[in-house]
Amino acid sequence: MYNMKSLYLIVLLCACDAYKILVITQMPSKSHSILNDGVVRQLLKDGHEVTYLRSIEYKNAPPTLRQIDVSDSGKVMPAAVINIEALMKNEVQWTTHEFVKRMKAAVAIKTVENKDVQKLLNDPNEHFDVAIIEIIYNDLLASIAAVFDCPLIWLSPVEVNSDVLSLIDEIPNPGQVSDILSMNTGKLSFLQRAEELWSLIKSQFTNYWYIDDIHIDAYNRLIAPIIAKRGRQPPSFNEIRYNASLVLGYSHVSTGEAVRLPQNYKPIGGYHIDEEIQPLPEELKIIMDNAKHGVIYFSMGSNLKSKEWPEEIKRNLVKMLGTFKQTVLWKFEEQLPNTPKNVYISNWLPQQSVLAHPNCILFISHGGLLSVTETVHFGVPMIGIPGFYDQFVNTKRAVNKGFAVKVDMTYNVVEDLKVAVEEMISNPVYRQKAKEYSFIYHDRPVKPNEEISHWVRHVIETKGAPHLRSPALSVPFYQRLFLDLAAILLIIIVIAIKLLRFAFSSIFQKKISDSKKKNR
Ligand SMILES: *[C@@H]1O[C@H](CO)[C@@H](O)[C@H](O)[C@H]1NC(C)=O
Repeated sequence: MYNMKSLYLIVLLCACDAYKILVITQMPSKSHSILNDGVVRQLLKDGHEVTYLRSIEYKNAPPTLRQIDVSDSGKVMPAAVINIEALMKNEVQWTTHEFVKRMKAAVAIKTVENKDVQKLLNDPNEHFDVAIIEIIYNDLLASIAAVFDCPLIWLSPVEVNSDVLSLIDEIPNPGQVSDILSMNTGKLSFLQRAEELWSLIKSQFTNYWYIDDIHIDAYNRLIAPIIAKRGRQPPSFNEIRYNASLVLGYSHVSTGEAVRLPQNYKPIGGYHIDEEIQPLPEELKIIMDNAKHGVIYFSMGSNLKSKEWPEEIKRNLVKMLGTFKQTVLWKFEEQLPNTPKNVYISNWLPQQSVLAHPNCILFISHGGLLSVTETVHFGVPMIGIPGFYDQFVNTKRAVNKGFAVKVDMTYNVVEDLKVAVEEMISNPVYRQKAKEYSFIYHDRPVKPNEEISHWVRHVIETKGAPHLRSPALSVPFYQRLFLDLAAILLIIIVIAIKLLRFAFSSIFQKKISDSKKKNR
């Protein structure tokens, strides 16, 4: 009897801490899934009930997880968007804001139009305590939080950038906070600063001229009627998009920059890495254990497919990798003829477990943020061959910190890569730097996944954490820049000049008329 009572109490205690949480994927792709899954995993562990709009199935889901498949949204992206050969030939416009933002807007609209999502939004019995929504160049999905009238938390899958900061604070100084698509970082030259400023202005104007209207139309067409049906006056889209309680940012000073951040930006880079590293499959373990000269791990991530390298480059890559004493583990989607003895090709390799092995001495990567973070987590130096998006700026930062070398994705890639690998193997400084940054990465007061638990609960229990909101958001643009003061000063100066002129000319004129009088 007594036991039953305490059991009941325990259940009751747990129940009051469990909330209903909506997690929304914006980009249907493998790497974004890894990040969103990481948040979902933590929330489920904390006992919450999660509804997850996802692109790839969440495996071994407990009954507290409800999944809604939005993988279809990816179909609106142009097919050849992410392809090594197209990137080498510069056929993809990854560097223009308009291209990227239009694409993201199309994906987001498709997600809202998804019939299962529509069912969720239109069900008056559905309620959530908080919505955690992935943000990358697109804020339309914020309006889903407005449907449920619940606090909004952005989940930013890239390093700190002006796009996400400007949603919760003022627009940051482009000389210090670079854009996601930027190639500049660290100490900027005069021209680079000018370039960053220009890029920020272009980005703002792209929103103003092309993108905002797409969002507002979509909001008015798809979301506002649902809010009205729930018996509320639909707010304007602008009120919604600047209403986030918090940003959980996939960033950390060990991979990014020590820029200043608003109170409600929480850097949680690395949270997706499990504390318990999965053991290597037996065959792989034997290969790695026996690699006397160390292992070079080569993977271009989940989006870029190694088989997309042009045929000749593929052949030369294999030949070149065969010249090293080291064992090479290559994530590659097809088996190649004449593979040298030291090269092992597999279409799937457990990246974290490979990097965690003490014999892993080098990671050749595309410079995606997950890979850079994992290389820092495990203290392995890196060669970055960036292809698109934030891979350039991630690689540049790693190079600036001293644990990486960059190789360009050109038709010269094989020769350049050989030089880079030789340098990395012979010079111990890269490994030392990787270890230094690994220490910085690990030496934080709270683990990043525990921060997720804390801040999500904090936002819910303080009804949207309004106390963390930046005061800049409630101040109009002209006041923030003191344009009103500038205007008053300008008026005073103009009046003063006019008065002086008037006084001057009247004295002067008096003198003239006086002298005229005298001369008469
Ligand atoms: C803004 O967020 C708060 C909670 O965080 C919510 O109560 C309010 O309704 C939201 N306003 C709009 C316009 O969405």
